[in-house]
Formats: sequence, C-alpha cells, structure tokens
Amino acid sequence: MKKNVLDVICQTHTEGKEKALFAREFLEKVGEADVSLKIDEMLEFFYSHIPVHFLLEEMMMSELMKAPGLTKDDKLLMGRIADEHELIKKNFERIKEMAEKIKKGNTSLKEPLINLVQETLEALLDHAEVEDNLLFPLANSKLEDKQLEIIKGNIDGIVK
Ligand SMILES: [Fe+2]
Ligand SMILES: [Fe+2]
Repeated sequence: MKKNVLDVICQTHTEGKEKALFAREFLEKVGEADVSLKIDEMLEFFYSHIPVHFLLEEMMMSELMKAPGLTKDDKLLMGRIADEHELIKKNFERIKEMAEKIKKGNTSLKEPLINLVQETLEALLDHAEVEDNLLFPLANSKLEDKQLEIIKGNIDGIVK
C-alpha cells in the first residue's frame, strides 16, 4: 500500500521537532565551554534535515494554495509559514558563519552564538506548533486526491 504523502511529510516534521528539543536540552547542559567544538555535530540537522523538510512543506503548500474553498486566513497562514522558513534559514547561515569564526579563534562569539541558536530553536518549535495546529489539519482537510498525487510525484526522489 502507498504511504499517504502527508504522513511522509509529517514524519520529517516530527523528526525535526524531536531534534530541536534534544538540541535545546543539550545546550542547557553544555553551556559555553565546548560549544564551538560540539555545535556542528549538534546542529547537523539545521544544515541537512531542516532545509529538506522546509522544501517538502513548501511543495505541499504550493499545491494546497490551489485547493478549493480556502479562506483568506488560510492563505495568510501559508504566507506566514513560508516567511518563517526564510527567517529560520537566514539564522542557520548566521550560525554557520559564527561557528566558523569561533573555530578560527574568535571566542568572543561563543555567547552570541548560543543565544542565536537558542532563539532559533525557540522559533523553530513555535513554528512547528503552528503547523501541527493549523497547517497539517488544513492540508488534511483541503487537499484532493489528485493534488496528493501531484505532491507525491514532486517529492519522489527527495524522500522515499
Ligand atoms: Fe514542519
Ligand atoms: Fe515549516
């Protein structure tokens, strides 16, 4: 039996959320000491998992935007979600740059780096909550079978 394409996307969403929760806990424990050494490892998901997950959601939303019976608020919600993806991705870039500079000896950036990572994790978790409460229920209720097939075709090759 074919897996429902929304379940596949939702699974990458749940994995991202779990990793963000883990990273938040880790940061609380580790403090500043070794953060520059461990941060790349810990944030690997920022650089790999999350951008792919965002792309899947955006592919889902580009079909969802065409679904019949959407309200103005539904469309605003999707616009907000796409904006948040951009903001979070910009933070990833800044985190990467700061981590590189710390590795090269700029230790004064350790505290700002931790603050930015914490801020980004909070933003990511708040974002995920909005998707849990509003976006996925909307996708479930509005996407037609035909559209699910299109999404499946578009994301094939990105996830199995
Ligand atoms: Fe998500
Ligand atoms: Fe998202």
